Amino acid sequence: MIRIAAVGDVHVDKDVLGRYRPALEQLPGVADALLIAGDLTRHGTVEEAKCMATEFGDVGVPVVVVLGNHDHQSDQQDALSEVLRDAGMTVLEGDATVLEINGHRLGIAGAKGFGGGFAGACASSFGEREMKNFVGTTEAIAERLGAALRGLDCDALVALTHYAPVPETLVGEPLEIYPFLGSYLLGQAIDSAPTALALHGHAHHGSERGRTPGGVPVRNVAHPVIKQAYNVYQLLSEDVDANLATV
Ligand SMILES: [Fe+2]
Repeated sequence: MIRIAAVGDVHVDKDVLGRYRPALEQLPGVADALLIAGDLTRHGTVEEAKCMATEFGDVGVPVVVVLGNHDHQSDQQDALSEVLRDAGMTVLEGDATVLEINGHRLGIAGAKGFGGGFAGACASSFGEREMKNFVGTTEAIAERLGAALRGLDCDALVALTHYAPVPETLVGEPLEIYPFLGSYLLGQAIDSAPTALALHGHAHHGSERGRTPGGVPVRNVAHPVIKQAYNVYQLLSEDVDANLATV
């Protein structure tokens, strides 16, 4: 069995320092890795990234992250990623990493993702150049995520995004903003490989649990949704939710 701790939208800045740390200190006893589904900072500054590194660094298990839209706000995403990598974290964007855990190979493919909406109510690549660019951005990201997932040969496969791959985990958000919260193309990418679990954030008012059309369990781990420092999910196990942490 592999135990994955996951959270998203931690939005770390100076005033957040210490909020997550007590629970993070418990991590080695309850999980084998920590995955963070973007919006690591409030406004995407290097200063905030340093706070993020202080709060979530050296937690005793591997930490794998993707960036969120907030982490792009100051156009410093490359420098921000560098700070996190220097702190020992793995930052994914359209690529993948493999962790050896309890004799198993855990593959994690990650990408920020982007918007566009879901079946029956989605943007299409038609008309103005701006709309084609918008949809094309999501298509390119989803393509890279799918290729990264399919390229992994592992015992358990996890997809990590910031934007949502399905609408079910957005329930609670206004319907009008669904196209800005995720895209069905991410769900298709996840379904193109034998993915065991898909984690995302971004939808602070959404719901925790959903499933892709292909049957992959999806979990919205945005901190305001799970209301704790992290949830723990089980892979290579009967039930992905059987061992929720109460931290
Ligand atoms: Fe957020």
